[in-house]
This record gives sequence, C-alpha cells and structure tokens, in this order.
Amino acid sequence: MIELHDISVRYAGKGRAVLAVDRVSLSIAAGSIHGIVGTSGAGKSSLLRTINLLERPTTGRVRIGGRDITGLGGAALREARRRIGMVFQHFNLMHTSTVFENAAFALRAAGRPDAEVRARVAEVLELVGLSDKAGAYPAQLSGGQKQRVGIARAIANHPEVLLCDEPTSALDLDTAASILELLAQINQRLGITMVLISHEMNVIKKVCSRVAVMDAGRIVEEGDVYDIFATPQHPFTRQLVEHTQRLDLPARLTEGLRGTLVKIRFLGERAETPVLSEASVRFGVSANILHGKIEYIGNRALGLLVVLLDARGNDAGGSVAAAVDYLRQHTARVDVLHSGHEEARHAA
Ligand SMILES: Nc1ncnc2c1ncn2[C@@H]1O[C@H](COP(=O)(O)OP(=O)(O)O)[C@@H](O)[C@H]1O
Ligand SMILES: [Mg+2]
Repeated sequence: MIELHDISVRYAGKGRAVLAVDRVSLSIAAGSIHGIVGTSGAGKSSLLRTINLLERPTTGRVRIGGRDITGLGGAALREARRRIGMVFQHFNLMHTSTVFENAAFALRAAGRPDAEVRARVAEVLELVGLSDKAGAYPAQLSGGQKQRVGIARAIANHPEVLLCDEPTSALDLDTAASILELLAQINQRLGITMVLISHEMNVIKKVCSRVAVMDAGRIVEEGDVYDIFATPQHPFTRQLVEHTQRLDLPARLTEGLRGTLVKIRFLGERAETPVLSEASVRFGVSANILHGKIEYIGNRALGLLVVLLDARGNDAGGSVAAAVDYLRQHTARVDVLHSGHEEARHAA
C-alpha cells in the first residue's frame, strides 16, 4: 500500500513559484496498477516522483507499506528507493553500456555478487523478451526494445513498487500496446504495485484498475477505471473520456439531418436493443442505428450507440422527446447530438 497524504510540491522558480502539486491525498492498493491521468503540466510527474522522494514534497507524508519514508535520508533513503523501480518515457538508458549492463545497473549499485547479477539479469531479460540482445547497445534497438530494457532494469532488484512515467508515450500504438501488456504481465506474475502516468485515457483503460484524474495540481476525481469511464463526474474527466469515445460520423450524415441524433451509453451486460425498440414502439418513433461499439474495460462492457430518432413517419404523432426521456431513464446516459425537433430540444 502506498499512501500519499496531503502532498504539495512547490517549485521555487525565478521570480514566480509554481505549485505543481496541490494538497493531494491518494491511496494505492498493494499489487494493483493505479493510473494517474491528466494533461501536460498537471503535476503528474511531480506527484509520482514524491513516491520515491526524487522530489521532496513541500508538505505532506509518503507512506509505503505503512512506513513513513518522508523524513528518510542517506543510507535509509537509498534502501527505501531500492524497493522502488522507475520506468521513463524516454527510457533513460546508458548509451555506452550494453543491454546486459543497463539491466544490471540497480544490482551493481546494490553491490550484489557477480554470479547473482548474471543469473538475475538473464532472468529479467528473458521476462521482457530480450534474451538474445544482452550484448547489444541501446542504439541498436527499436523504441519498444529500449523500453523493455528500461523495464528489465527497473525490476531487476526485486522492487515492490514500479513507477511508470508515460512509459508508452514515445512509442507507436502497436508497440505501446505490447509494452502495456508486458507491464500487466509483470504486475500479475510478480505482484509489483504499479503507478502508471499517462495523458491518455486509452492507456489507463488497458491496464489500470483504478485511476486518479489530475488537473492543475489537484486530483479532481479518483476511482475504479470502469466507473470513471462509465459515469465520469468532473467536467474535466468527462472531457477526457469523451475524447476516447468520439464516434466520427461522416458529415453528410449530420448535414440536413431529418430527426434527432442521440448518443446512448449503456453499461454492463444489459441488452440495449430491447430498451431501444421499446422506446420506439411506445412513443411512435423510428430508431435508426448509425453507429455503435462496445468496449471492454477489465471484463465489463461499456456500449455506445448513435441513433437517429424520428417521429415524422408516424401519422398518429409520435414523440421524440418522450422517447429520449424514456431512454434517459433506462440507460446510463443520453446525449442529444443534433436536434431536429422542437420538442426534443426542450427535453435536452
Ligand atoms: N524542476 C522544476 N522546476 C520548476 N518547475 C517545474 C519543475 N518540474 C515541473 N515544473 C512545473 O510544474 C508543473 C507540473 O509539471 P509536471 O509535474 O512535470 O506535470 P506533468 O507530468 O503532468 O506534465 C508544470 O507547470 C511544470 O512546468
Ligand atoms: Mg510528466
């Protein structure tokens, strides 16, 4: 368990001070992968670096496994840091050393005997899939391979905690996915507690169980990743989530649209089609599905449908507004994207 209590980080800067982290408290369960998401400058890295005291918090306490490490210095601090590995966006490898020596770094620093270093480095290189690259130099590796070396180095000395600062932000999408998979695998196999920073919700979604959303030095929302995606509360979180769920409809679909375009979000295993057809029948509107997708976070489904509702074909006079109300009551969330009807506009 990592406990951050009332952490602030203030940089003195010339002329003007920067409050990078503003009284943040956060608990991270042992063995979990906890995300911290936010835009650039939000204070994520500053907060992360307080966990191993690379950054001394201006206020607050850092506890790991129940032990307050905030006041540690010298040998005690080095010993505490030994239990915390770190993975960086730009890998931070030693360019004039081989993959083997990079991975061996923490073990050597800890003064482990040579035979142990050799055995352990072989083990971690195997774990990250680089057994055949031990003698290579960083310049000979791809970005993904470099990050694998970074991960091998970080876990070599059996840390309990792994701090990952944008570990996939310098990589292409496929490589990023394989690195995230590797981190998840390491978390499961070795039980290392991980804190993962990203500016992308899609990264968080893939591997984290919980996430803290950071904006301007503060945590504005924190919770289970599925819940944050399904029912984001803070406007900033909504914006981040919506960014990942943008469904791009061709312009011709929304120009001169006849009807009311709604985005319906539904959660879990609930079959949505019955709700939609029920609304259609009850309120005399046609429901034309234009776009839809279901994504899985953990093992739980989160569905999105974009539907065009129209009452005009109904001589008996259907009601789009009533249908939208009904959908609002029976699904997680309904957004009116485009309103072709006066009545629906009122309902929105
Ligand atoms: N060493 C530093 N000295 C002065 N200001 C800093 C330093 N590191 C970060 N900052 C400032 O603190 C704020 C938060 O930065 P950072 O923690 O790197 O955010 P993030 O990782 O979310 O992008 C930014 O305004 C940044 O410019
Ligand atoms: Mg950062």
